[in-house]
Amino acid sequence: MTDRAFVAGNWKMNGSLSDIDTFSNALTARAADISCGLAVCVPFVYVARLAERLKGSDIATGGQDVATEIEPGAFTGEVSGTMLADCGATFTVVGHSERRAMYGETDDIVVAKTRAAIACGIQPIVCVGETLEEREADTVETVLKRQLGAVLDGCSDEELGRIVLAYEPVWAIGTGRSATPEQAQEIHAFLRSQIAERSDTLSRSLSIVYGGSVKPDNAEAIFAGDDVDGALVGGASLKADSFADIARAMP
Ligand code: G3H
Repeated sequence: MTDRAFVAGNWKMNGSLSDIDTFSNALTARAADISCGLAVCVPFVYVARLAERLKGSDIATGGQDVATEIEPGAFTGEVSGTMLADCGATFTVVGHSERRAMYGETDDIVVAKTRAAIACGIQPIVCVGETLEEREADTVETVLKRQLGAVLDGCSDEELGRIVLAYEPVWAIGTGRSATPEQAQEIHAFLRSQIAERSDTLSRSLSIVYGGSVKPDNAEAIFAGDDVDGALVGGASLKADSFADIARAMP
């Protein structure tokens, strides 16, 4: 297993305080034989509770978004990286396709959120990925170049060293139709080559994880790709059993 190995859960808008307690007890009990990095990204209101429950374990807590602003102020509904850190988070998802599609997040906003998270000591899990229409139109590389390019252009080398990149083809999210291991490896290699154009060292150290219908029964095959460093898991991260099984599939 490389140092890049990382599996994160994204609960999206799911869960309750009681689920956090049940899940954290079950996951910590199953984590002993998991050697990759692990994080669980939950709704903001549950971050402090999860971090408290995971204290003393190697499992990190994360949020699912972050404000572009760092300083406190009149930004109703927003949650800053400072607040996330205060609640015990060390990661946050940034630029998930659901936020890009439903909440109008542009590449510029994704860059601003990425930088704001890092400035607050939070590692952003930055998501990129094409829609089905974009895949069918054979524009996957163009779309990914634009999304990743914005982050590469907008961040310093030091900032880039703090990010985890998640490749999430939109057509594979929540559909039960995962990318094939070959498709995932092909795109991860492409993303790594784009990063290498900026810095070889960075391309060797940066974790690129795959997201989109990862389950215990397909994780091992997806993880077999040399450039696939782990997963960002949605639905299957809601249960400690399936999430731990996926993490255990990391070679
Ligand atoms: O952030 C996670 C992804 O959107 C994947 O979700 O595993 O439910 O397809 P999924």
